[in-house]
Amino acid sequence: MTRRKKVVFVAGARPNFMKIACLLKECRKYKAIRAIVVHSGQHYDNEMSEQFFKDLDIAPPRYFLGVGSGSHAEQTGRVMVAFEKICQKERPDYVVVVGDVNSTVAACLAAKKCHIRVAHIEAGLRSFDMAMPEEINRMVTDSISDDLFVTEQSGVTHLRKEGHAAKKIHFVGNTMIDSLILAMKKIQRMDPRSWTSYPLQEQLSSYGLLTLHRPSNVDSKTQLKRLLAVVDQVAQEIPIIFPAHPRTRKSIREFKVKLSKNIHLTHPLGYLEFIFLCQKAGFILTDSGGIQEETTFLKVPCFTLRANTERPVTLEKGTNILVGNNIEQIPRLVHQVLRGQSRAGQTPPLWDGRASQRIIKILVRKLMI
Ligand code: UD1
Repeated sequence: MTRRKKVVFVAGARPNFMKIACLLKECRKYKAIRAIVVHSGQHYDNEMSEQFFKDLDIAPPRYFLGVGSGSHAEQTGRVMVAFEKICQKERPDYVVVVGDVNSTVAACLAAKKCHIRVAHIEAGLRSFDMAMPEEINRMVTDSISDDLFVTEQSGVTHLRKEGHAAKKIHFVGNTMIDSLILAMKKIQRMDPRSWTSYPLQEQLSSYGLLTLHRPSNVDSKTQLKRLLAVVDQVAQEIPIIFPAHPRTRKSIREFKVKLSKNIHLTHPLGYLEFIFLCQKAGFILTDSGGIQEETTFLKVPCFTLRANTERPVTLEKGTNILVGNNIEQIPRLVHQVLRGQSRAGQTPPLWDGRASQRIIKILVRKLMI
């Protein structure tokens, strides 16, 4: 009897969990595959991690590495040391890493040095901004991975330019959108009143949503104050719900930033609660990568508080607007959106809920060779 093939899925931080959920579901359809989940522990608070496992119906991970927070080198190094042990113990046939966080590059490096094949989900995205740790993580991961699964055409173009063979590159769509489609169905059957944010206990009929966590926006007192002053102006026209990342909350406290009463600061929200809020929001202000894609799919106007994006399809086809340094324009842009002057946008190719199906089919084929 042939041995079942072991595929280890690595996730470590909040934006990873929605990218592996549907891949794991898909694996259950194949008896020849044994999926093992490793959680690096890069994110560890209940609301940044466990809640996502519940919302996405992911079983608790087989291994929890507990690496926690630290400098980039500390975090990356700790994941490498701990994950190498798992690779030696389990001898997986494939390791699957997703996205661009420190756990992604660390697990990829450790696995490759143990001569294990690695598949990178969300390969080829490039912001061309080497000041972003994620850009370094993406480039290193792509350069040594065996299979590169791509969410949008720009990824294929970058990887080809970087010299990767066409047979390694698979344009399959977006596993995050697979999870989003399932979440939307689930939300329809739920009573949103059980959520703490339900638009803030029904006082708000319309609102904007704000998320901020990039070091370039929240670690600098001047930049954070400048951004929140602009958000304050927007909040004079429409209330803003602001689920704050722990890093952001810390800066708000440390820099003694005062928020007006129209900005409703909340703890980080679970996946379903956040998607519910996104769907109903008038617009979103964010510096996240994933939210640019989710809003494009949901056709909700998105203002990205960054100078660049590695997800250009959301600008070309979707509802995303890159604000860059022109943040003083935001109140005017929001005002236009609220008067109905916004692009409806189109759904990017292959963002159809079946990316995970395509990926696992390809992996199974490769595993059987
Ligand atoms: C990480 C990713 C980023 C991703 C983001 C999503 C890297 C380089 N960055 O950034 O790409 O967009 O996750 O959230 O991998 N903290 C807690 N509880 C937690 C986790 C973190 O309190 O569960 C606090 C700690 O003080 C920590 C800080 O948040 O120092 C930052 O966490 P870290 O994992 O270093 O980076 P993120 O900013 O979350």
